[in-house]
Amino acid sequence: MSNVKAAVFASGTGSNFEAIMNSENLACEIVLLVCDKPGASVIEKAERFGVQTFVANPKAYASKSEYEAEVLKTVREFGVEWIFLAGYMRLVGVTLLEAYEGKILNIHPSLLPAFPGKDAIGQALQSGATVTGVTVHFIDEGMDTGPIIAQEKVTVMPGDTEESLKVRIQQVEHALYPRVINNIVRRASLYPVK
Ligand code: GRF
Repeated sequence: MSNVKAAVFASGTGSNFEAIMNSENLACEIVLLVCDKPGASVIEKAERFGVQTFVANPKAYASKSEYEAEVLKTVREFGVEWIFLAGYMRLVGVTLLEAYEGKILNIHPSLLPAFPGKDAIGQALQSGATVTGVTVHFIDEGMDTGPIIAQEKVTVMPGDTEESLKVRIQQVEHALYPRVINNIVRRASLYPVK
């Protein structure tokens, strides 16, 4: 198993978390799940995979930076080198961004820069787009901005509902995210920046 350690940050169902965990020969070891929604079903999934969890409600902290300082302390304790956002429904703030510059990836269910933010699938349907897709990108301080690493198209079919389109988008996500993670982590070990 790889000695590069990573954390997944998620708030919801965790189907991408599951896909990452199930992917064969992952170039890093997922040692931690960070979840900001106590009770989210991704937590049970982590427990099933034997992945440690850090679950905290940011509202229980005096400020975003205090919450992130606690998260930062935890990811450092676990020796985390990479952070993969997978349905983490909050903007990452300066505390984590500075500490993990160029080491935080996100997956988004549209072809960014189209349809950023919440409900990207609903936005695509409402716009009448015939093609949407999936983007994996490095994050910055913006909402679904930051350098794009990979994109894959998904055709919007006549009669598609949010549910039917989501199923096809998530199939693409579950294959794309582990593949991109492997490419990025392997490349970084071959050409270390520091
Ligand atoms: C995914 O569609 C991802 O692109 C978006 O949030 C969703 C998370 O789904 N950022 P899941 O929790 O991984 O099932």
